[in-house]
Amino acid sequence: MTALARIADLAVTYRGAPAPALSGLSLDIEAGEILAIIGESGSGKSTLARALAGLLPERTKVAGDRRWPGLDGGPRAGRDIGYVFQDPGSSLNPVLTIGEQVGEGARRHLGLGRRAAGAEAVRLLARVRLPEPERIAGAYPHQLSGGQRQRVAIAAAIAARPRLLIADEVTSALDVVVQAAIVGLLVELVRADGMTLVFVTHDLALASGIADRVAVMAAGRLVELGPADRVVAAPKAAETAALIAAHIDLATPPLVGEAS
Ligand SMILES: Nc1ncnc2c1ncn2[C@@H]1O[C@H](COP(=O)(O)OP(=O)(O)O)[C@@H](O)[C@H]1O
Ligand SMILES: [Mg+2]
Repeated sequence: MTALARIADLAVTYRGAPAPALSGLSLDIEAGEILAIIGESGSGKSTLARALAGLLPERTKVAGDRRWPGLDGGPRAGRDIGYVFQDPGSSLNPVLTIGEQVGEGARRHLGLGRRAAGAEAVRLLARVRLPEPERIAGAYPHQLSGGQRQRVAIAAAIAARPRLLIADEVTSALDVVVQAAIVGLLVELVRADGMTLVFVTHDLALASGIADRVAVMAAGRLVELGPADRVVAAPKAAETAALIAAHIDLATPPLVGEAS
């Protein structure tokens, strides 16, 4: 396998922060893999995702190496990496139609004119399995449900045909049934197009269900990396074992008569 990205000894310190949010982080991302990044809240998952995508705030200190052997010349801004955020409510523009927003990437990066971009937006909305894509293209974000908005955000993220898709806690705000559908859609899209997926979540079960490999973060460091089934069955890091234990506690119903 060739590495799409090769990160070596990455450290990230936000402006004014007393300590780095990430340090000593080395990681290869293989072309075509689904890599899950898991860890407790505050462990640095989003910082890593943003560092990969070049989306860190201005005046953030970044040290170490980010190379892109799988992308000749490195990622082109806004084009080779698609990013889906946790809250599509904040990433979508409330005053532009869905069709305009989804078509934007195709206009800007694929050189399509207004009409062609509109048609491409409808095609993309159908691809993310939104019913009545023509109608949705003319709608505004507030007219859609949370799950529909997340599908729109995914359509916009793949509009420029990126090689890498980064999904940061994209299902955390959704109910479980919608969660499963969105995760299924992401897997279907990346497999169909040969994209690489970095799937950030605090939900180990969700991660291990779809990922080829799992990277576990704790306190700004990578504490474990391995095949998803191995990491879950035989965790090597104490932090991974703790995440698994926390999940089992939550998933196990109380004994009959024990709960009040
Ligand atoms: N924009 C920011 N400015 C300053 N500190 C930040 C910023 N974003 C995140 N942090 C801090 O960096 C650390 C890692 O955060 P984050 O990467 O968001 O973790 P996660 O995504 O795993 O919850 C946390 O201590 C968080 O408070
Ligand atoms: Mg986060």
